[in-house]
Amino acid sequence: MTGTSGPIGVFDSGYGGLTVLGELRRRLPEYDYLYLGDNARAPYGSRSFDVVYNFTRRSVRYLFDRGCPLVILACNTASAKALRSIQQKDLPGWEDGLRVLGVIRPTAEAIGSISRSGKVGILGTPGTVSSRSYDMEIAKLHPGFATYSTACPMLAPIVECGEASGPGADYFVRKYTGALLGQDPDIDTLVLGCTHYPLLLPKFREVVPESVQIVSQGEIVADSLADYLKRHPEMESRLRRGGECKYLTTEDPTKFTDLARIFLNESVDVEHVDF
Ligand code: DGL
Repeated sequence: MTGTSGPIGVFDSGYGGLTVLGELRRRLPEYDYLYLGDNARAPYGSRSFDVVYNFTRRSVRYLFDRGCPLVILACNTASAKALRSIQQKDLPGWEDGLRVLGVIRPTAEAIGSISRSGKVGILGTPGTVSSRSYDMEIAKLHPGFATYSTACPMLAPIVECGEASGPGADYFVRKYTGALLGQDPDIDTLVLGCTHYPLLLPKFREVVPESVQIVSQGEIVADSLADYLKRHPEMESRLRRGGECKYLTTEDPTKFTDLARIFLNESVDVEHVDF
């Protein structure tokens, strides 16, 4: 791989990673991007550790095979359940210099300068919440902070089905947010710990009191990547520049195009892939 340059790979189980991709392109518009949504197998949120690891590993490998030197797991469930195994078990056996980064660590880092009360609520998929990845990262980085979480099994499927602005979304956003904030009246920060949830942001804004900050990850991940590339010129020099963005899906490209148009506010060209 040395000597060639390639796009930044951005991976999610489905549409959620588009919320991260949008911020990456705003913050770092000079690079090329290749987005992969594993829509055929989404949602990942209620799947077991091994299944999420295997799906994620195959997708990451596919993005490397398409020439990406760096892949961002724009998915909390994959970051919680697969990132460490890929970094420790798979990368050492693959070509030199390939890298995979996740979204949980940068979000946990950013929380330190956002929460005043030190009481942080996290909404995520059942997989992310049961992994306790946020609780562990936040405890490591900000001792003294308390974390609370609620699993939201219905939210990613609602988004995947194109129902993000429907009444079903209202009902479940209200239900999960109430269950989370009801755990401690001093929670002042609510982390949308699933990249699908920013697509429900207007619903969260309606339900969450103004005194509670809603943290969505796109900007945080984009800032963290900009910082990473400054510290890793050897990776930065391998990224292709041109501002081009391509989209891949394991499902029907027409379906992807329709929903992506709503989420991104632009028309996209999508290729179907199978692996
Ligand atoms: N967008 C993903 C996340 O951040 C995955 C949601 C799902 O596939 O259930 O967790």
